[in-house]
Amino acid sequence: MRISDDPHEAAAYLKAGKIVIFPTETVYGIGASALDHTACRKIYAIKGRPSDNPLILHIGSREAIPSFGEIDKKELLSLAPFIPGPLTLILKKKVAELFSAQLKTVGLRVPAHELCLEMLKQVPFPIAAPSANLSGRPSLTRIEDVIDIFGGKVDLILKGEDPILGLESTVIDLSEDLPLYLRAGMVGFDDLLPFLPNLKRWKGDEKESPPSPGMKYRHYAPHAKVIIYQTIDEIMPNDSFAEIGFETTKKGLLSKEVLTLTEYARELYAFFTLSDKRGIKEIYCQEPREGALRDALLERLQKASRASS
Ligand code: TXA
Ligand code: MG
Repeated sequence: MRISDDPHEAAAYLKAGKIVIFPTETVYGIGASALDHTACRKIYAIKGRPSDNPLILHIGSREAIPSFGEIDKKELLSLAPFIPGPLTLILKKKVAELFSAQLKTVGLRVPAHELCLEMLKQVPFPIAAPSANLSGRPSLTRIEDVIDIFGGKVDLILKGEDPILGLESTVIDLSEDLPLYLRAGMVGFDDLLPFLPNLKRWKGDEKESPPSPGMKYRHYAPHAKVIIYQTIDEIMPNDSFAEIGFETTKKGLLSKEVLTLTEYARELYAFFTLSDKRGIKEIYCQEPREGALRDALLERLQKASRASS
């Protein structure tokens, strides 16, 4: 396995059907050519990912989106402020050969990460890539953790700036009549509303079959039990706990105080991963009260706390 900071080398590996881990502005992705189904299936095996959960396809420019998915040109132009960026569009698939776990739709995203874009621009096909993490575990946002967990399991790791946002992209479905907000992320529901006035939140329950297969799986969870707190008097110190939030008791084996929601989002997964490495049993996470990132963070915290309870 190679570790390289050269996007051209990473692109050459992808063209040769190899598996490459690369940074994006959200989290690390583990990718292969979307035209090479054998390589795509290898990603599922490495991650332990359920085979019906489709992968996001990454491309190098907004202009290339209509080559792969059906989208109204005006609608695409109106979303230009978010692309490149942490926004994934689910569209009706235009190219039958693209890997999409048997669905007639594809998720397309143009990452806002310079090195990643340089790599993507060198390859003439989309790169299918889920987040680089073992299925169900927290996504990775630090190169050390990527090397720790995936070293030797993939062909190349592209080394560059670590993800600055720290949470996975927002996912919206534009393949049906009404646009649907499926996964909260840095691009908030309210940010999109002026551009997609008909946008609805997906309010599915467990019984309904989710429009995004990934939503039925447990996600983002460290081995430790995740407990959400509002105020620090709810924290019950013991000899193996960690805490992250705006206020902490400072008594944890790991105590991380954040100043902003942006910092909270950027640090959360790395904190989960570090806590697991230290064998911590309980992670207290303060509930974000307000702000644009609240939905995105709370969604992850709630999934993590449900998975571990
Ligand atoms: O920020 C991100 O989105 C990162 C980076 C690497 O780009 N990727 C990521 O991929 O989080 P993943 O696979 O962990 O999450 C993709 C989500 C899943 O919930 C999946 O079910 C959904 O997008 N998805 C992908 N293609 C879809 C499709 N055709 N229809 C419905 N949902 C889809
Ligand atoms: Mg994922």
